[in-house]
Amino acid sequence: MPLADGVVVRPASSSDIPAIIDLAVEAVRHSVSPLRGSRQEAVQEYRRADLQALPEVLTLPESGIFVAEDRQGRLVGHVIAMTGRSESLTGEPQGWIFDLSVTPEFWGTGVARRLMERAEDFVMAQGLRFLGLGVTSTNKRALAFYERLGYLEERKQMVKILSPRAPEEEP
Ligand SMILES: CC(C)(COP(=O)(O)OP(=O)(O)OC[C@H]1O[C@@H](n2cnc3c(N)ncnc32)[C@H](O)[C@@H]1OP(=O)(O)O)[C@@H](O)C(=O)NCCC(=O)NCCS
Repeated sequence: MPLADGVVVRPASSSDIPAIIDLAVEAVRHSVSPLRGSRQEAVQEYRRADLQALPEVLTLPESGIFVAEDRQGRLVGHVIAMTGRSESLTGEPQGWIFDLSVTPEFWGTGVARRLMERAEDFVMAQGLRFLGLGVTSTNKRALAFYERLGYLEERKQMVKILSPRAPEEEP
């Protein structure tokens, strides 16, 4: 794999937030489940609104936000990790990845791996043994990436598209 030359990974600062939001909004289309038939623009709008909390999140000690910057100082990737949460079934404290996005021209250059390593170091430094994340089943590239990094499938999230049942026939 050709490693990205001159890309540095560092903690995010508040001036990075607009670029983080733009990249996350662009990247969310890879995670949109086709099951729902959602309009991409609507999902992106929702994502942008959701990320307006980022300036506040950045100030929290339990958030680990790291960015990758190229030689020209352009933001080419980010990861948003959080601690201070528990796994829903066991109550075991664990870290969580909220977003990982890399600019497509840098895919396959090791930037995402480096971002994830920083996130893992951040979570481990807080004494945690587990780091969780959710991936849309159709996002095959991300699934293969996480598997390559050692992430294991633990549970499946399922959904049913509901429709009214036909009235029961009279005997
Ligand atoms: C998913 C994503 C972050 C992966 O980025 P990437 O640039 O391909 O990742 P890297 O170059 O750092 O690859 C790291 C490792 O994963 C492997 N890998 C990446 N994609 C792979 C694939 N499709 N199949 C098999 N292995 C893969 C690489 O070969 C590399 O292995 P190595 O370091 O042992 O050689 C990137 O495609 C992305 O930003 N996608 C859009 C947003 C997204 O889907 N985010 C995840 C939401 S859950």
